[in-house]
Order: sequence, then structure tokens, then C-alpha cells
Amino acid sequence: MAKTIIDLKRADLTLGSAAASVHVLKGIDLEIAAGESVGIVGPSGSGKSTLLMVLAGLEKLDSGEINIADAPLHAMTEDQVADFRGRNIGIVFQSFHLIANMTALENVAVPLELANVANPFEIARRELKSVGLGERLNHYPGQLSGGEQQRVAIARALAPSPALLIADEPTGNLDTDTGRQIADLLFSKQTERGMTLLLVTHDNALAKRCSRQIRVRSGQIESDSAPIAPEAEAAIA
Ligand SMILES: Nc1ncnc2c1ncn2[C@@H]1O[C@H](COP(=O)(O)OP(=O)(O)OP(=O)(O)O)[C@@H](O)[C@H]1O
Ligand SMILES: [Mg+2]
Repeated sequence: MAKTIIDLKRADLTLGSAAASVHVLKGIDLEIAAGESVGIVGPSGSGKSTLLMVLAGLEKLDSGEINIADAPLHAMTEDQVADFRGRNIGIVFQSFHLIANMTALENVAVPLELANVANPFEIARRELKSVGLGERLNHYPGQLSGGEQQRVAIARALAPSPALLIADEPTGNLDTDTGRQIADLLFSKQTERGMTLLLVTHDNALAKRCSRQIRVRSGQIESDSAPIAPEAEAAIA
């Protein structure tokens, strides 16, 4: 049995203030084993991005537990969570989130430098080469295509060798062919490094490339393709 990397228990979260408050996550339980690839789908506004933000430690739960690789994020300070995230979790967004006045190399190296990692520029150069951007190190984001910008973002996410890679609609801003290439890159990196991959997508075909599919609706898990655990099966029988 593979080790559990994500263990979310009764995760509950309401966002916004009084008049505009939304009960976004309604007591979600979720267990994910190390090495799984999980495609998260569901209608717009169902809480997918919020769920990823919680799993990345970027949004705090109102109640419930979030354990990542046995670290209880719900019980840690913001600084502890930030430090944990920097070392263990890579994040890729739909809109790339690169820093416009930094080159591709700096976008990848500077976060490593800030985290006191040794040889940040060497690692950044290696990661950019590994995503096919060895010839674009000194380009600024504005001088790169959408697909190339997403490759920089993937190199940045992979640079600290995270155990968990989280991607929120990573192909959402790309044309079909470029999107497929980016998906190929994510899956090949996942296999090569034995990472756990969680990705939110509106593309069912992309979700089906994952080993497991989860459908979120209205802040709850509506369906989960994961095989039923033996103890749950016994409880049903
Ligand atoms: N800061 C906030 N304040 C109030 N409501 C919020 C806030 N952030 C998100 N919401 C609401 O929470 C719900 C879930 O949002 P979320 O972004 O997680 O949905 P999603 O499933 O990712 O949707 P999409 O597919 O459109 O990206 C939405 O109804 C949204 O309006
Ligand atoms: Mg979203």
C-alpha cells in the first residue's frame, strides 16, 4: 500500500464577508496516496481552485484537518506553512504567474535563492533545459509564447524537487496542441520523479489521463473513481 501524501478530514471553509459569504468547502474528506495522478473536475464555482489552495497551504481551513506527508498544516503557523510549501509543493496556475521584469532564468532561480538553496542558478538552468527551454534562459515572459511561459512556470514549480505538484487548469490558456504538449510534460515529469500530481481541469480527456478522477460539486466530492478501500467494502457488505 502506497504511503498517504494528502489526508484531508472534514475540511470546511467559508469565504468572503457577511453579505457576500460563500460556504465553499463543505466537510470534504479526501485521501491521496503518494505517486497518484488525480484529475479534479466539476462545474465553475464548485470549489476546485479553493480546494487546491487549501492543499497548497495558501488558504486556511475554518475547521477540519489537512495533513500533507504527515505534516499537520492546520496546526502550523503561516511561516511554517510557507516554509513547508517551498520545500514540498510545486504549484502551476492557468495564467502562469511569472514575474514580468525577470528573465526565465531569474523566475526559476530567485525563489530558490530566497529559500537559501545552494546553487540556485545552476539548478534553474538545469530545470529550464529539462522543460525544453535551454535556448530561452534570458528571455523575459513578454518575449515568450504562452506554452513557453507555462514551461517556465513548470520549471519553477519543479526546481525544489517537490513531492507534490498541484496545477490549476494548467492548459486553460493554451491552444489544443500546446495544451497537449504541456500535459505531456507534466505527466512525464510526474513519472520520471515519482511525484504526486493533482490537476484541476475542464478538459475531461485530460482528467482521464490521470490515474484517478474526482468530481467536485457545490463544495463536496460528488464522485471519486478511486477503488473502494477493503474496510469500506466490508462495512457496505
Ligand atoms: N474570496 C472570496 N470571497 C467570497 N467568495 C469567494 C471567494 N473566493 C471564491 N469564492 C466563491 O467560492 C466559490 C468557489 O470558487 P472556486 O474558485 O474554488 O471555484 P472553481 O471550481 O475553481 O471554479 P472555476 O471552474 O470557474 O475556476 C465560488 O462561488 C466563488 O465565487
Ligand atoms: Mg478555478
